[in-house]
Amino acid sequence: MEIIKTAAEMTRWSTDSRKSGQTIALMPTMGYFHEGHLTLMREAGKVADHVVVSLFVNPTQFGPGEDLQSYPRAFEEDSAKANETGVAVLFCPEPDEMYPPGFQTSVIVSGITDKLCGKSRPHHFAGVTTVVNKLFNVVQPQKALFGEKDFQQLAVIKRMVTDLNMSVEVVGHPIVREKDGLAMSSRNAYLDKNERQQALCLWHSLQEAKKQAQSGELNCAKMKTIVRDTINNHGQCQIDYIEFINKDTLDSCARIDDDVILALAVRIGKTRLIDNDRLLRGENNV
Ligand code: PAJ
Repeated sequence: MEIIKTAAEMTRWSTDSRKSGQTIALMPTMGYFHEGHLTLMREAGKVADHVVVSLFVNPTQFGPGEDLQSYPRAFEEDSAKANETGVAVLFCPEPDEMYPPGFQTSVIVSGITDKLCGKSRPHHFAGVTTVVNKLFNVVQPQKALFGEKDFQQLAVIKRMVTDLNMSVEVVGHPIVREKDGLAMSSRNAYLDKNERQQALCLWHSLQEAKKQAQSGELNCAKMKTIVRDTINNHGQCQIDYIEFINKDTLDSCARIDDDVILALAVRIGKTRLIDNDRLLRGENNV
């Protein structure tokens, strides 16, 4: 596995690969790899000749008072894990390489970034779309993989790619979970033993909502109460949002159908966790 730190060298590598007729799948990350990241890397290896993983804790997507400084970092371990997974290049630029002095441009997707996570993190998605746009330009991948755990991020990136006629195919991947149901996340490292237990409120409330929907409760207002109660029964979690939304538009829904996702964000101590799931999944649905 090659480790590349500059944009110029990364683009040279990609240009050479493309010239020799080989395809590239990019998986953007902020590091501190867990099995969720590694699963997406393996999946990337199935859809292209080469996998490029970017590892960059992107400062522009963190708001004031958020966890940029304390975000977990483990370069040596990450590098070894990516290597074992068969990644061709780990692209790990320094902040100055991505945002040199004089940098003044950002890519903003409006509308779908105003709701859900965008409400409590107002500048977050502009940071994400700007850095992902830069990564696409530097790496020039044919495909790019993103996890459905960050379903709003995935929808925002798909919107950007469509709206700006970008020639990258965005591939979504289902959520990878711990054995007890907790969605894997680098931020789970912040949880102490007690908080780790409380974090199961997300999984348990998604399961409860699915059970209720499958037995005929399709009213979102009633469901919201059930979900809120399930979360509150787990102890001191602070609810950021409980939303029933259409999986493509992210518009709020009043009634549950095959296209509805239940999206959750809670704070447990200082840690903000998100999760989501489709409540009904018809036979032919994707
Ligand atoms: P990061 O949180 O490191 O996540 C990198 C990718 O892994 C994202 O596409 C995310 O959705 C996916 N992922 C994380 N946990 C997952 C899980 N349990 N199951 C499936 N996929 C999972 O998301 C970011 O970084 C950044 O915002 C980034 C896109 C790199 C831009 O800076």
